[in-house]
Amino acid sequence: MGFAQVFCFTLFLFIGYTLVHGGTPKVSETHYIVYMGEHSHPNSESVIRANHEMLASVTGSINQAKAAALHHYSKSFQGFSAMLTPEQAHQLAEHDSVVSVFESKLNRLHTTRSWHFLGLDSVYNGNYLPLDFTSNVIVGVIDSGVWPESKSFSDEGLGPVPKKFKGECITGENFTQANCNKKIIGARFYSKGFAIDFGPLESLNQTFFMSARDSDGHGSHTASTIAGSIVSDVSLSGMARGTARGGAPGARLAIYKACWFNLCADADILSAMDDAIHDGVDVLSLSLGPDPPQPTYFQDAISIGAFHAFRNGILVSASAGNSVFPGTACNVAPWILTVAASTIDREFDSNIYLGNSKVLKGFSLNPIKMEQSYGLIDGSDAAAPGIPARNASFCKNNTLDPALIKGKIVVCITEVFTDDRLEKAIIIQQGGGVGMILIDHNAKDIGFQFVIPSTIIGQGAVQELQAYMRTEKNPIARIYPTITVTDVKPAPEVAAFSSMGPNVITPDPDITGPGVNILAAWSPLATEDTVEHRSVDYNIISGTSMSCPHITAIAAILKSFQPSWSPAAIMSAIMTTATTMDNTHGLIGRDPNGTQTTPFDYGSGHVNPVAALNPGLVYDFNSQDVLNFLCSAGASPAQLKNLTGEQTVCQKSPPASYDFNYPSIGMSNMNGSLSVYRTVTYYGKEPTVYVASVEDPAGVEVTVTPAQLKFRKTGEKITFRVDFIPSKNSNGNFVFGALIWNNGIHSVRSPIGLNVVSV
Ligand SMILES: *[C@@H]1O[C@H](CO)[C@@H](O)[C@H](O)[C@H]1NC(C)=O
Ligand SMILES: *[C@@H]1O[C@H](CO)[C@@H](O)[C@H](O)[C@H]1NC(C)=O
Ligand SMILES: *[C@@H]1O[C@H](CO)[C@@H](O)[C@H](O)[C@H]1NC(C)=O
Ligand SMILES: *[C@@H]1O[C@H](CO)[C@@H](O)[C@H](O)[C@H]1NC(C)=O
Ligand SMILES: *[C@@H]1O[C@H](CO)[C@@H](O)[C@H](O)[C@H]1NC(C)=O
Ligand SMILES: *[C@@H]1O[C@H](CO)[C@@H](O)[C@H](O)[C@H]1NC(C)=O
Ligand SMILES: *[C@@H]1O[C@H](CO)[C@@H](O)[C@H](O)[C@H]1NC(C)=O
Repeated sequence: MGFAQVFCFTLFLFIGYTLVHGGTPKVSETHYIVYMGEHSHPNSESVIRANHEMLASVTGSINQAKAAALHHYSKSFQGFSAMLTPEQAHQLAEHDSVVSVFESKLNRLHTTRSWHFLGLDSVYNGNYLPLDFTSNVIVGVIDSGVWPESKSFSDEGLGPVPKKFKGECITGENFTQANCNKKIIGARFYSKGFAIDFGPLESLNQTFFMSARDSDGHGSHTASTIAGSIVSDVSLSGMARGTARGGAPGARLAIYKACWFNLCADADILSAMDDAIHDGVDVLSLSLGPDPPQPTYFQDAISIGAFHAFRNGILVSASAGNSVFPGTACNVAPWILTVAASTIDREFDSNIYLGNSKVLKGFSLNPIKMEQSYGLIDGSDAAAPGIPARNASFCKNNTLDPALIKGKIVVCITEVFTDDRLEKAIIIQQGGGVGMILIDHNAKDIGFQFVIPSTIIGQGAVQELQAYMRTEKNPIARIYPTITVTDVKPAPEVAAFSSMGPNVITPDPDITGPGVNILAAWSPLATEDTVEHRSVDYNIISGTSMSCPHITAIAAILKSFQPSWSPAAIMSAIMTTATTMDNTHGLIGRDPNGTQTTPFDYGSGHVNPVAALNPGLVYDFNSQDVLNFLCSAGASPAQLKNLTGEQTVCQKSPPASYDFNYPSIGMSNMNGSLSVYRTVTYYGKEPTVYVASVEDPAGVEVTVTPAQLKFRKTGEKITFRVDFIPSKNSNGNFVFGALIWNNGIHSVRSPIGLNVVSV
């Protein structure tokens, strides 16, 4: 399948966003990352000296080497990035100490109510956890920076910065030491990789700060969702009014700005990861990713950086992307917690009152009051001279006749999912129109902020609207400002845009969390995506970029609850306690039609933070287990070296890849009957007995041995076997089921996905 345009960042920001490719590097030179793995140098200076010597071997002199180098990776691993000819890159790749040389590519940037919906409010309110509970946890956020004056980043009530933190507050344009505090404890920024691709940032004629200060809004939004302080009575022009706070309001933030105008260069991200690991963050959050298909783990900068983080005990939580289709999920390495997006039980209705007094339900973030009714015209009836009616129905530029739409509400259709919806309203406004009704069944739950009163309608409403327009000679309508509706059912539903698995070897994404219409802090300078380009301090946006920080916050809470837990144990706790049920006790469906979902939509299910705090059993693994998994999945020594940065030999007979102790079971080509092993670690006080139950995948009989696990004390590990006996071929499709361990209190669930190749 070919996707003309795919994207892995905030949907809302993507639509309507353009950037001219204006870089002017010398024709023959490309920005390469030269990666050398872990190092034994005593300090950064020594690494940089060695880097320059290495680079001088191809540029001719140390001075030329210094001029060519852009980034030095000198802390958590060794390497550099530089402008090189393919010839020079090739020569460097031949060096013994060089692991790999690859081009720096681009990545895209991929709450009042949501925490209540997740049940986390009750945890804090019931004094189960004090609000400053997470104050020892440091979360690194790689994004577009932060707006430090936002009330969400107030450090009121926070104790001193944890001693373990080794990061810095780097000053820059409009960002001083005073902009760091006990909440924003570190701030760094990286622009060289971006500038090499697009030219000096100044040349792009867009607002930016050469510092960690956020002019895009995205970074402030994600950081405040994770660890924003409690700010009462916030809203977006009255919509979604409530108390804003991060999921871990006591946690500290270390800000790594590597994204500019919604794009982030591999070389800059890798620098941020090198620093973050060294600075001592506990969790890293990346609401960004490459366009699908993602490169293999061995060639992908984020996968490589995340592997070093994992090896250093840091959980990396990352967004799966907003690419809608099967097989498009990114950031799928098993050492990354991959996050899909779903709705919460809140919607924003901007309804339409027709001249015949019928009310149609519409959706948008529309605070603008329309004072009276206006005439309705279909875009296809307002085509500019020489434009076919069908073309005009999409309301694209220069297709509508201003004489016909002046003073009217125009009815438009979305052509493809990636259409720029905001632009349609601008075009209507430019032509003198006063409102827009957009027929867009597939995006109706995403809160768009249009420049004129506009609303999105789906199937049922479309029929009523069309019937009215057909029968009424002078149809009129009025679009009402948005009302916030809560306790919506069913919820959650997987968002229509959320990228889907499968990925080749592991069943991704891993988990889903709130990512539709999330209110959080914003940069007052980022007005592009707000109604009438108004400056706002809090904004509502959608994307897996928004669900990822929800999961990051929950990981931060777990980390403070269980400081000794590995990143894999935290992942396991979040995944095995997830739910596949919505608030009507039905199975979670997928927007827009409530269609049946599978683990390829949401992995283990929808996050349940309260249960995750006390999962009962944990599936743990370490970086050696990851290597064994990659070995038995067929990774070559050269590939492994690309990842680890050092000579890595596979064990003689590593456990089978399906025995990798992941908290889910996936097999993409199961050949006949098979036995799979897993090991669980018990975390509880009293002796207990867990009993297995299984939801059989269609056509496969599943048995668990032993079927009961008796634990006497915490920390005890027991290995069990799961036998799969297929009775029929699944014909290239996956069949799904689950394994559940239950002791009457805890339910520990692992999804199963099998493609039965033969019986
Ligand atoms: C940034 O700093 C300059 C110089 O102090 C000042 O004129 C400008 O108003 C500042 N911009 C913002 C957005 O604070
Ligand atoms: C930025 O503005 C300058 C001067 O107005 C113009 O020459 C240049 O083309 C603009 N660049 C972009 C990328 O729009
Ligand atoms: C109308 O749309 C079609 C298909 O998108 C396109 O090929 C054609 O050029 C358009 N016609 C005009 C006059 O814009
Ligand atoms: C539409 O095109 C005209 C020129 O044909 C341009 O001036 C205007 O800015 C465009 N509008 C949008 C929203 O792109
Ligand atoms: C949902 O249903 C509508 C109306 O039947 C249809 O037009 C649309 O394509 C469907 N969308 C998806 C993603 O299945
Ligand atoms: C190692 O990484 C480089 C750079 O991405 C790539 O060209 C090479 O193919 C990789 N090697 C293997 C064995 O994957
Ligand atoms: C499945 O296993 C059988 C017996 O070992 C073998 O003949 C066959 O080629 C295998 N098929 C696949 C698809 O691996």
